[in-house]
Amino acid sequence: MRILFLCLGNICRSPAAEGVVRRLAQEAGLVLDLDSAGTGDWHAGEPPYGPMQAAARARGYDLAALRARQLVRADFDRFDLILAMDRQNLRDAARLAPTGTRARLELFLNGETGTEEVPDPYYTRDFDGCLDIIEAGASALLARLQPPQ
Ligand code: 4NP
Repeated sequence: MRILFLCLGNICRSPAAEGVVRRLAQEAGLVLDLDSAGTGDWHAGEPPYGPMQAAARARGYDLAALRARQLVRADFDRFDLILAMDRQNLRDAARLAPTGTRARLELFLNGETGTEEVPDPYYTRDFDGCLDIIEAGASALLARLQPPQ
């Protein structure tokens, strides 16, 4: 299963989601091919934002090796699932999607966490709150992907 996490800049929310889901999947023994991207290209080539990395590191998620990149049309054929952090990301990705693509494009959150959008900590500055929401969303995603025991 190939999953792409999508946000605006690819330096806060989607790399954090990638890191959290990667660890949960490892712990669950689930083999997932994970990546992240942004709808914008301003930060392409950069590592995740310093305060986001620090908040993630404090919870044991190491995001240092990740590098930002922009979503491209080929991603819709490379991935099974593209999970957007907010509705604007979803709209922007839908506009880029070729017709009849392999990837399903959805919101990362599905309401189980009490919200359908991950607030952008680049603006809210609430990096821990962002991680709380991402951890809840990641658990819900893993539960959905794991076959019933
Ligand atoms: P992200 O946050 O989408 O969670 O990576 C952002 C980071 C940078 C910018 C926007 C959002 N920016 O405009 O530079």
